[in-house]
Amino acid sequence: MPPKSPETRTAVLFVCLGNICRSPLAEAVFAHLVRERGLEDRFEIDSAGTGAWHVGERADRRSMAVAARHGVSMEGRARRVEPSDFGRFDLIVAMDRENLRDLERMADGHPRRPKTRLLREWDSEDGDEVPDPYYGGPEGFERVYAMVRRSCEALLDHLVAPEG
Ligand code: 4NP
Repeated sequence: MPPKSPETRTAVLFVCLGNICRSPLAEAVFAHLVRERGLEDRFEIDSAGTGAWHVGERADRRSMAVAARHGVSMEGRARRVEPSDFGRFDLIVAMDRENLRDLERMADGHPRRPKTRLLREWDSEDGDEVPDPYYGGPEGFERVYAMVRRSCEALLDHLVAPEG
């Protein structure tokens, strides 16, 4: 079968505060699952931060380490959410409620409003936020990985379901 045309792709943006710990991990895990299922032609996937402190940096080494332990590679550099993202993406997936509030403010006045959701809306286990692991130890990154992995699996199921 020929690949789907770009018009039928779903564009998903994962967002956290710094774009060095959680959202690049979610981007990498989601892209990994999409590749595993051979669905690359159906998705555009990216991540960004609401803050600008780490723009241009590689992901935090602790996020890269936890990803590598699970066979997931992380590439790319941090960038900030920009106004054009609201026109470009179909779904914006935030890690915590502060990200959601900041996104709401940044989208203010933009003519197009993509759907904005918390990643853990798709988590099969209880909890609504992916906590910021930046100031904690490595076990925090493993916990974040587990939440991100469960949620991304279910999010992908949702997006490829006939009614999704
Ligand atoms: P992230 O984690 O939002 O998951 O990328 C953070 C990284 C850096 C900072 C905050 C959160 N910071 O304040 O520098």
